[in-house]
Amino acid sequence: MQEVDNQTAKLVIISPPLTNNTQDKVFDKKEYLVFLEKVLSEVNRILLPDGILVSVNTDLRDHSHYNKGNTCFNGTVWFKHNDLRLEAEKVGFKCIDYKIWVKSLNVNVYRYNFAHILFFSKKNQKPFRPGFTSRDHKFKTDVWIMQGGTQRIDSTGFRFRNAIHPEIVERCIKEFTQPEDLVVSPFTGSGTILAIAEIMGRSWIGYEIDKKLQRLIIESIYGPVHPRIYQDILTRYKKKDSSN
Ligand SMILES: C[S@@+](CC[C@H](N)C(=O)[O-])C[C@H]1O[C@@H](n2cnc3c(N)ncnc32)[C@H](O)[C@@H]1O
Repeated sequence: MQEVDNQTAKLVIISPPLTNNTQDKVFDKKEYLVFLEKVLSEVNRILLPDGILVSVNTDLRDHSHYNKGNTCFNGTVWFKHNDLRLEAEKVGFKCIDYKIWVKSLNVNVYRYNFAHILFFSKKNQKPFRPGFTSRDHKFKTDVWIMQGGTQRIDSTGFRFRNAIHPEIVERCIKEFTQPEDLVVSPFTGSGTILAIAEIMGRSWIGYEIDKKLQRLIIESIYGPVHPRIYQDILTRYKKKDSSN
């Protein structure tokens, strides 16, 4: 993230990819964690001293193909959120809180229907509980039930299934930033974080390795994906603008 100066970002939101090796279905979990450590170290560099890192991830079952074919891990649960926490702590963060995002109340035999939202501050900051003094009751709740909101389709019909719910981003931006603060999205995906930062009048910068997502990201930020998936948030902030 060379484009971003030291200690300039107020908020970084990550939902890490499944693999660090986008070309291959097999990957090494240890290598993946080294990759994450490098990204988190960069995040620590760009964050302001009172900046916040939010990580959103869904845990999953361990598989032989996450371990270079080593089947000894097969079938167990990988507490990925805990590995994320350990990697973040190695590079100077501390985990100050977490919440659960409930994605669906239906049964899904393939994936967990809930995700972990972890909040980190820099290690040398005074500990605090995010949302404790907030007037936003929704942020204060520990369990965020937000069904749907994980798929995006661009104008050519290209579908992305791994997005985070836009309201998670809205709550975090509202809680941790002021207008014009810089919000960074190291794993942009469909562009949810950038789109909500744009709607809420924050500066933003995002990184995405997959060129196929370029159109979707642009459409997420400037439309036409806007009217459907971001409509509620767009309406809330438009109303605020016109009442000022
Ligand atoms: C889980 S998705 C992020 C979803 C996003 N939060 C959203 O709401 O759409 C993770 C993304 O990280 C991207 N990615 C993986 N490795 C990357 C890298 N080295 N640099 C930038 N992006 C990367 C993947 O292509 C994928 O789109």
